[in-house]
Amino acid sequence: MNVRCLSKVSQKEIRGRVFLVRVDLNIEAGEEKNAYRIKATLPTLRYLLEHHAKIVLMSHRNRPHFSAAEIRNPNLEIRKKMRAFSLRPFAGILSKKLGTGVKFVPHFDFEKIEIQIKEAKPKSIFLLENLRFIAGEEKNDSKLAAQLASLGDVFVNDAFAVSHRADASIAAITKCIPSYAGLLLEEEIINLDRAMKEYGHPLTIILGGAKISDKVGVMKYFWNKADHFLVGGGPANTFFAVQGIPMGKSLVDTNAMPLIRKYVGKKKVVLPCDVESDKGIILDIGPETVKYFSEIITNSNTIIWNGPPGFFEKKGFESGTKEIWKAIFKNKRAHIVVGGGETVTSGKLISNFKFQISNSRNVFLSTGGGAMLDYLSGKKLPGIEALRR
Ligand code: 3PG
Repeated sequence: MNVRCLSKVSQKEIRGRVFLVRVDLNIEAGEEKNAYRIKATLPTLRYLLEHHAKIVLMSHRNRPHFSAAEIRNPNLEIRKKMRAFSLRPFAGILSKKLGTGVKFVPHFDFEKIEIQIKEAKPKSIFLLENLRFIAGEEKNDSKLAAQLASLGDVFVNDAFAVSHRADASIAAITKCIPSYAGLLLEEEIINLDRAMKEYGHPLTIILGGAKISDKVGVMKYFWNKADHFLVGGGPANTFFAVQGIPMGKSLVDTNAMPLIRKYVGKKKVVLPCDVESDKGIILDIGPETVKYFSEIITNSNTIIWNGPPGFFEKKGFESGTKEIWKAIFKNKRAHIVVGGGETVTSGKLISNFKFQISNSRNVFLSTGGGAMLDYLSGKKLPGIEALRR
């Protein structure tokens, strides 16, 4: 892999240094404690602590888009939003998971923060406030990048999920100080590259979720490589709509209809043969489809899955997603990559999910949603390109 990786940095170069670590804590309210994204980034943080580094964590949360004036002088409504998008709750959660204090920094007075970090002992951890509260973050502003870089010696990107954005804390910062991919980002690249370049046949792509427009790039990239595209959820409805089947109130991605026309009716695109509906709205794949999809999954040697095939959040419509998970975990031979926030969350439908995850060497759960789809479409991600040798 031609990406500079933290795993290759010598212990001597880590000890006592300040590591700015970009993580992705873009996690919905209520999901904070058990978020997979937090679990996935712990190895990098533990690794740095073991080697006596100081850590400054940076992340965004949601898309706040406040003006500079609103930030300087927030009214009640802005304050409420800022609280909802704040990274503060993660300080306590990370402290518990890492077994050491994490100090939350609620302001962006960089000189003050620098002094605080300098005075701190090795193995101290700081967590900065939501970087998207600063206008320059999403503009890839070099001044902001330099200010952030002034807080540390080394930059580590462990936020694969936001590496498709050219943001100051993802891209511009790499021009200021030595920069590396964290252990999680390295794993993401290894696993996705393997699925894209060293795949074994049959190669099966499972596409579900709400929209097909954000997945068309993956279909295009894999069209001549994959053996099967198992399509469920909103994407399947959109295929049906292109075929002229009336979809009533079922979710259809109308904008994507012209984009998928060329794939309609092709043998490798497998659509549901039965569905489960509520008041005429399709909400899941049916039992015959589950059987057929599972058979293909069982016989595959490479599987990429993004998007649940049904509305699993609604009671009575979780069966399709649950059965796909079961088929995935039964296949101990294939290299399997599963991604997309919703898809990974849906894994909780399987009661012994945790056991399976920690014991399943052939299933890789990606932390990326949009980033995973962009990567699998063959696009270059600014956050990864910036780390190339
Ligand atoms: C995600 O959740 O997919 C990432 O954190 C990126 O968030 P964004 O789409 O708001 O840039």
